[in-house]
Amino acid sequence: MSRLIVVSNRVAPVQEGKPSAGGLAIGVLDALKETGGVWFGWSGEIVGESAAPVVEKNGNVTYATVGLTRRDYDQYYRGFSNATLWPTFHYRNDLSRFDREEYAGYMRVNATLAAKLKTLLQPDDIIWVHDYHMLPFAQELRKIGVTNPIGFFLHIPFPVPEVMRTVPPHEELMTAMCQYDVVGFQTDNDKQSFVDYIERSGRGHSSEDGMLQAFGRMLKVGAYPIGIYPDAIAKAAEQFSGRKQVKSLRDSMRGRKLIMSVDRLDYSKGLVERFQAFERLLLTAPGWHGRVSLVQIAPPTRSDVQTYQRIRQNLEGEAGRINGRFAQLDWTPIQYLNRKYERNLLMALFRLSQVGYVTPLRDGMNLVAKEYVASQDPADPGALVLSQFAGAADQLPGALVVNPFDLSQMSEALERALSMPLAERQARHADMMAPLRENNLSVWRDSFLSDLRSVATASSVTAKTVKTVKQGAATAKRAARA
Ligand code: G6P
Repeated sequence: MSRLIVVSNRVAPVQEGKPSAGGLAIGVLDALKETGGVWFGWSGEIVGESAAPVVEKNGNVTYATVGLTRRDYDQYYRGFSNATLWPTFHYRNDLSRFDREEYAGYMRVNATLAAKLKTLLQPDDIIWVHDYHMLPFAQELRKIGVTNPIGFFLHIPFPVPEVMRTVPPHEELMTAMCQYDVVGFQTDNDKQSFVDYIERSGRGHSSEDGMLQAFGRMLKVGAYPIGIYPDAIAKAAEQFSGRKQVKSLRDSMRGRKLIMSVDRLDYSKGLVERFQAFERLLLTAPGWHGRVSLVQIAPPTRSDVQTYQRIRQNLEGEAGRINGRFAQLDWTPIQYLNRKYERNLLMALFRLSQVGYVTPLRDGMNLVAKEYVASQDPADPGALVLSQFAGAADQLPGALVVNPFDLSQMSEALERALSMPLAERQARHADMMAPLRENNLSVWRDSFLSDLRSVATASSVTAKTVKTVKQGAATAKRAARA
């Protein structure tokens, strides 16, 4: 049986139970634990000199990690990945900047990582690469002779062609992405944007079975919405409900309703708008004063990227202003915490709350929205207010879907969620649990990998046929000459 080799920039911590930032690490770890395999990527360390991968086994997952030098980190991670691709792919090209040297660093690190991975590869391995840090990874592997099947999954949105074209080396990046055998996206919209770029620029065309002929290659493109394990989450939420921190939050609420939000502190998450919509609720519905609190957990990330420093300042300002305006001696409207918490504890906090408030301005999937639903007590579930620009909105039919740019609509949705009758909450919760179970994390992994295997088999058959035909033609020529 072939080994699964997962490649991503961020690799979840080897010791479990530690909080890990972001949906990618959580999703990939859960998916990989079941099948076993190798997980290759950045160790999270900055090192003096680049070295061979450090290999460590934990259960059936083998972690192979490498450090990045300061220059690599600055150019590849902090620079092109997070100051160019991340904002642009989240439709914030106003925050995006381009620097040729950073781009060169991004390409160089992809080449170096590919060479390091090659030393660990076996002929039957199947390689699954994740996220925007690694768009050219397959191209680099192919250059050094790796012929294994290679698939790519983008965890973040893929922008419409006009926005993609604002990244100066867009064509090189698209050419590189087409070196994968399968390219997967979170939603049909993201996939369509990718296909639109190829077709409108006259670089290729797609067929109905999801195959794309582009830049002289044939690849499969598809939407593979990432899932969770809802029943395991429900169990963890219930088990952790007895924890001290959960009890003390419950006591401190003294019968008030609780709105919960958890996000990395990122400008794509719409946190300022979210606070302002909550403020609007307090302005337009004063009956809620003293009766509801918003707990926003937002651990800082990428704090050495300037745009992240700005959003942090902004948000602190907004939380302070709104609290100053409405707080009473015994009530603080917004509790804003810049800390990481253990994942299971967060699930228990979700279960304690009456409303999940997940309103990114743009998000690939947003697993927090799915986790919020799964954490609820089916007998008395909370309601979910969800942005239409999160991939999860396609899949959570029972959510109150809002436009995060419309503060009035968000504040109305909050009020509706806070006052929603039990029967409606139960019905909406059931409507969301069914698709979460049906499209769980194993389905995501298995459907992607099964496509990757069949595309790879088909192309190796084609390659063999071409070889046989060529050999046949050569033999015929030789025979004719003889
Ligand atoms: C998002 C990205 C991931 C990334 C995570 C955390 O979920 O899609 O690729 O790992 O954020 O960000 P960080 O920069 O800390 O890895």
